[in-house]
Amino acid sequence: MAIYDLFMEPLERRGLRRLRKKLVFKARGKVLEIGAGTGLNLDYYDSKKVSSLVMIDRDLNSRALEKKIKEYGNLNTALKEENVMSLSFPSESFDTVVFTLVFCTVADVEKGLKEIKRVLKKEGTIIFIEHVRPETEPLGSAFDTLTPLWKKLARGCHLNRDTEKTLKNMGFDLILEDKSIKNIFIGGRGKIKKTAL
Ligand SMILES: C[S@@+](CC[C@H](N)C(=O)[O-])C[C@H]1O[C@@H](n2cnc3c(N)ncnc32)[C@H](O)[C@@H]1O
Repeated sequence: MAIYDLFMEPLERRGLRRLRKKLVFKARGKVLEIGAGTGLNLDYYDSKKVSSLVMIDRDLNSRALEKKIKEYGNLNTALKEENVMSLSFPSESFDTVVFTLVFCTVADVEKGLKEIKRVLKKEGTIIFIEHVRPETEPLGSAFDTLTPLWKKLARGCHLNRDTEKTLKNMGFDLILEDKSIKNIFIGGRGKIKKTAL
């Protein structure tokens, strides 16, 4: 098991696994997964509904991921090393774009979300799970204080982003389906607002 998976296990047990199961299962058609990491979402795709799955990551740990993908031979999967801030795919090419625990780290969130909007079909769906700044105090302020150090330790991960607000500001209508672990993890689906098309 990858070190990342071991590190995540307590959080997976406390609610993340439930969120992944509920949301990733809803991916349909041509799917793009951003920031695939060690492939923790592979367990939850419905192979009957997914016609193809492209998994990208800025740093592809391809051996571990390729091994895992082989275990899921019923999914038609491709791997690519790419940055969400400049995707190589044509506009409107995916029915679903999935990203879980990624936008805490993306250097330019707006640039990344613009790219997602570009490659997503007009009627397409985003599926996301992100950790966000806690709503309650003193946890919120504690996460603000910790973020500069945490960013250095965890490859640019911010503990205090308000990704829900940013997604809305960037022109997505959201259905927030769940929150877990003191509302730090949010999960939901979204579509491009008609007015933003
Ligand atoms: C915390 S891990 C999450 C992995 C996996 N999605 C999960 O749910 O467990 C964040 C992943 O996003 C990737 N990532 C961060 N910034 C990225 C970017 N700009 N473009 C593509 N991938 C990125 C990282 O390399 C890392 O694999």
